[in-house]
Amino acid sequence: MKKYFIKTFGCQMNVYDSWRIAAMLNARGMTATKTVADADIIILNTCSVREKATNKVFSELGRVRDAKKPDAIFGIVGCVAREVGAAAFHRIPELNFVLGPQSYHRLPEILSDPDTKLLNIDLTGLEKFDELPQMTTAPTVSYIPIQEGCNHCCTYCIVPYTRGREISRAFDDVMRDTLHAAKTGAVEICFLGQNVNGYKYTDENGKIFRLSDLIRATAKIPEIRRIRFTSSYPTEMTDDLIQMFATEQKLLPFLNMPIQSGSPDVLRRMNRPYSLHAYMDIINKLRAARADIQISSDFIVGFPGETDSDFEQTLEIARRVRYINSYSFKYSPRPHTAAALMPDQIGEKVKRERLAILDGVLNEIQREFNETCIGKNLTCLYEGADKTGRHLLYRTPYMQQCIVARAENPKQMANIEITAANRASLRGKIVD
Ligand code: 5AD
Ligand code: SF4
Repeated sequence: MKKYFIKTFGCQMNVYDSWRIAAMLNARGMTATKTVADADIIILNTCSVREKATNKVFSELGRVRDAKKPDAIFGIVGCVAREVGAAAFHRIPELNFVLGPQSYHRLPEILSDPDTKLLNIDLTGLEKFDELPQMTTAPTVSYIPIQEGCNHCCTYCIVPYTRGREISRAFDDVMRDTLHAAKTGAVEICFLGQNVNGYKYTDENGKIFRLSDLIRATAKIPEIRRIRFTSSYPTEMTDDLIQMFATEQKLLPFLNMPIQSGSPDVLRRMNRPYSLHAYMDIINKLRAARADIQISSDFIVGFPGETDSDFEQTLEIARRVRYINSYSFKYSPRPHTAAALMPDQIGEKVKRERLAILDGVLNEIQREFNETCIGKNLTCLYEGADKTGRHLLYRTPYMQQCIVARAENPKQMANIEITAANRASLRGKIVD
């Protein structure tokens, strides 16, 4: 029986895509292996959001080339495939295929003709979702892509190039996938999209469907206990969506809504044309809808021209909003982006220093938030046992990890009293 090896880099969208690729290979009678040397086909699903991510792919490709069986075929799919295209064959001449994020369903072509070099990095739309088969069982937390691509064109971001313009999937298709997930094991649904709250689908009768419609319909599925979505663009948080936090109790009180920088000047150069006033207005509306909501953000430090005072403003907004579960990155110049050509690129040392300072502030806020959870009862979702087997791991509604003592037959959803906290996790005991 033929074996496949898939390694996934990058975002949840890639994790999901790899899962569908695996379903397709399973359907062709192949099985997964975790060892490159055992595999007949090796697929790296790649990320190009930062330069480091792209470099990682090429060093991994070198390793794969040396470790694989001589007749095994290997290639890259995803964002690096789209970023570098045919040049990938020049860098690694033995490569068999290079398929962009919207061409995965072309993989069978290389299986039937392994002697060709298969290159397809066209942005063809989302037919991959119709063509790739489904897995027979869904994970407890199921990610469902609802749109792909982005129309915002932030000047630092390669995604509009790699994933193209925004396309929303049909409402019925998303709900069919959601129901399938619910009937085969999903308890939590996370709707995915590069610009998820920009989801907009118009059916043949002209009826418009928004993310709020997907949330309302999903909340009616009994098996689904928790709903969330990621990642949101701030000014696309429309009132209908904000209202969902007031009316749908299954929607978790946690929202990823990246601000990227707290400086109006930097935001302008990033082509993220919202004022801090407008951004805070959205946060206030969200808190009015759901008092206990918490927000997470992504930040970029060292964007071209970022001054000390710009950076101070980023620290200020972080403290003001009190973001939890956030990510911060050093600006990385990417091909096909406007910011890579901007003057006043910031040196590595300054980027590193600013990142350390911001991480310090974010960690402190996280620790303080985690401590405010002590004494509270939170309804948490079971994830599995820890490595030692002595504890069970649960996930709180704010995506914190919560550690409890081992018990027989752990409940999938448990009401947990939080007894201790540090920056990284909570501890608690199951109440019921
Ligand atoms: N450099 C650094 N970080 C970036 N991101 C996107 N593009 C870049 C870049 N060129 C970050 C943003 C985004 C997250 C997914 O990655 O913060 O929200
Ligand atoms: Fe990486 Fe962005 Fe592509 Fe996801 S969409 S794999 S984060 S470049």
